[in-house]
Amino acid sequence: MTSDELRELFLRFFVERDHQMVPSSSLVPHGDPTLLLTTAGMVQMKPYFLGQATPPKPRLASCQKCFRTTDIDSVGDAKHLTFFEMLGNFSVGDYFKKEAIAWAWEFVTGWVKLPRERLWTTVYLDDDEAAGLWTEAGVPPERVIRLGKKDNFWGPAGDSGPCGPCSEIHYDLGKDVGCRRADCNPGCDCERFVEVWNLVFMQFNQDRQGKRTPLPRPNIDTGMGLERLAAVVHGKLSVYDTDTFRPLLQRVAEISGKQYGRGEASDRAMRVVAEHARGIAFLIADGVIPGNEGRGYVLRRLLRRAALFGRKLGLEKPFLAEMAGAVIQAMGHVYPELTRGRDFILQVIRLEEERFQDTLSTGLENLDGVIARKGEGLRVISGEEAFVLYDTYGFPVELTREIARDRGFTVDEAGFEQQMEQQRQRARAAARFGNAEAHAAFDYSRLTLPATVFTGYESTSGEGRIVSLVVDGSPADVAEAGQGVEVVLDTTPFYAEMGGQVGDEGVLKGATGSMQVEDTVWVRPELIAHRGHVVGGRLVAGDTVTAEVDAERRADIMRNHTATHLLQAALRQVLGEHVQQRGSLVSPERLRFDFSHLRALEADEVERIQRLVNESIRRNLPVVGRVVQYQQAINEGAIALFDEKYGDTVRMVQVGEPPARLSAELCGGTHVSATGNIGLLLITSEGSIGAGLRRIEAVTGRGAEGLAGSYMSSLQGLAEQLRSTPEEVPQKLAALQAELDAERKHSAQLERELSRRVAESLVGQATPVNGVTVLAARVSASTMAGLREMGDVLREKLGSAVIALGTVVDGRPQFLVMVTPDLVGRGLHAGKIALKVAQVTGGGGGGKPEMAQAGGKDRNKMAEALALVPGLVEKAVQK
Ligand code: SER
Repeated sequence: MTSDELRELFLRFFVERDHQMVPSSSLVPHGDPTLLLTTAGMVQMKPYFLGQATPPKPRLASCQKCFRTTDIDSVGDAKHLTFFEMLGNFSVGDYFKKEAIAWAWEFVTGWVKLPRERLWTTVYLDDDEAAGLWTEAGVPPERVIRLGKKDNFWGPAGDSGPCGPCSEIHYDLGKDVGCRRADCNPGCDCERFVEVWNLVFMQFNQDRQGKRTPLPRPNIDTGMGLERLAAVVHGKLSVYDTDTFRPLLQRVAEISGKQYGRGEASDRAMRVVAEHARGIAFLIADGVIPGNEGRGYVLRRLLRRAALFGRKLGLEKPFLAEMAGAVIQAMGHVYPELTRGRDFILQVIRLEEERFQDTLSTGLENLDGVIARKGEGLRVISGEEAFVLYDTYGFPVELTREIARDRGFTVDEAGFEQQMEQQRQRARAAARFGNAEAHAAFDYSRLTLPATVFTGYESTSGEGRIVSLVVDGSPADVAEAGQGVEVVLDTTPFYAEMGGQVGDEGVLKGATGSMQVEDTVWVRPELIAHRGHVVGGRLVAGDTVTAEVDAERRADIMRNHTATHLLQAALRQVLGEHVQQRGSLVSPERLRFDFSHLRALEADEVERIQRLVNESIRRNLPVVGRVVQYQQAINEGAIALFDEKYGDTVRMVQVGEPPARLSAELCGGTHVSATGNIGLLLITSEGSIGAGLRRIEAVTGRGAEGLAGSYMSSLQGLAEQLRSTPEEVPQKLAALQAELDAERKHSAQLERELSRRVAESLVGQATPVNGVTVLAARVSASTMAGLREMGDVLREKLGSAVIALGTVVDGRPQFLVMVTPDLVGRGLHAGKIALKVAQVTGGGGGGKPEMAQAGGKDRNKMAEALALVPGLVEKAVQK
């Protein structure tokens, strides 16, 4: 049975038992702040288990892409994997232990036909129920083992979430494997028993402090690694001997010219390359891009580790794109995102691997230097040395460690960690400083204030009570005219800066005075503050004020914000689904949208994107924001921000209604009510802002009107100057350009002719010096090119000579010296002569033996300088 067949068989088994098959979710757990990457099949089920969302059916089954970072450094042995596929069946408050155990047993013995005598099971210490169910199913009691929390209590994934006792099926590889003790069982740490399937009885939700509360209803979450199952079914000891890895190892062998199975070191390197190639391809397919933190760093580390092990196989040139190609070929039929994203995946890898090669050669050079400077007997690389390599050259400490080990050195780990900690402290200090500037440094966590009620989705004005006044960083009861102040209201229509949308401006008007609001910000989760100055009278804490947002400015902002949603939809349509928002700025004047994409956009792509957006504007689609459950929004296909953390409920902004929906995004911003309001969008620039990242800037509404207007009047002015119509301007300009070119050509010709004549008139001035023809003269040429032209003519006319010409360009003396090849043979050197000559005028320069240029400062010394030449020639020839 192939891995493909096993995957299908598993899903069919559970579909026949009334489960709904759900597709694998992304490796990037969108909206789950507790996890860096998807580590288990249950990750996408979490909201169901927690009672936050309703599953499409209470019984579900999946084959989930998983990635576990804890084992990266162990990859290369027989069993550890970073990326793997997990088969799982799930019950959301439906069936429990009885069915889960009976079906698991039926599947492994009846469908996959693993020999019963090789199967053992484990249960949590006091789980008599599970133990009884296994024996009922037919497992001999002596092969049901009770284990503690370490083995038989699962979860939570990350620092909090659903968890519960679990029960596992293990496969016995036989007496000859592992510790060989007679009483060896699945509780043993040796290699004899392989955990095949884990059935988790999800009963609790654990919070960050470790406190467990029962879930609304008990659930089932099971997980079986497909690669391991395949190995067991194929009777192999290692996952690398299955049909999943064989083609990949084969490809490594082809690229490197090494054979698998010829030596432990090279086998290990080949396994690392094959394993990491899968992880790399799948991570990029799910939108991860190499970076210095979080998921980006996991990817970068994987790629670098693979590249480094490749070097051990003699692969000095980039090869990982080819490996990823093999992964896509092998798995693209199961995971279409690989095939769809193929070009993008390969290009990300190529760029990153090339960059790493550069880093590597610079870093290696430096590390070599560090090692070479060590005296005899000193075999420790200091923490500071390792840190400099890391911080200045981007050379990963893992590599320093690995290379050091290969050469018999060690790294002072504690010293390195100390340096890192110092750097972190510096960064924190810098961040604090930056913040202090941006936010008047008042710590609102000291006050007990109710969450601000935001009414700005519906209107731009309303009443609110002043619940806090801060003047010059301290709470106050009164703020006087002219004072800088920060005001918190219980209710406000002012939008506080968030998600790229800038804060609102406007006024707060009270009975005794008013305030100009210059910015609105979040000072604490759920707390909005208005910043600005009291402009008349005084503001008093506790008073009620009328809050009026500058509505025109806000309307400009809303147009730009809705336009970014239209822009994102158009980008995905034109460039592909890999486009992901990486940042944005929505201000009244313009919008900026940063996204992942590898190449510069073609002019026609930009044009198509702009056209699509403007079509959507003219369709005047309704824009509606709704608060929904996070999981529901995701299920409805809403786009979540790549690195954003979301709560259980989110605001989903839809443009157009299904089925004609154009876009759905999780977004807290303010939007126009229909796209027609935007008026027009004009893209003003497109460019790169880093590897794999692009930025588009655009204007809409009044901004677009202003821009179009100013372009039109410039064009009209231009047309008038050219005595043409605006439409004829390009044609007219082209004609003028052609005229100018012809004119330039003509005058260049004239100048050359002139140079030639001048040069010819100089021939007579040549004098013999010790048998060498020497010509040193001041001429008038307006450019160095003209001077060279003269030199060329003279050289041709004189045949064998030393020619030194001087002229003044832009007020400074310039020299050209030429020595014909025959005279170079006699020891004359144009560069040396030029240097000596130029020095007389306070300058310097030099060049080759046959030709040199030099410049000076004092034009009055020109004659004196040139007069030096015959003497220099005489001396050189004598020697
Ligand atoms: N969540 C459990 C695991 O990862 C079972 O799916 O092993």
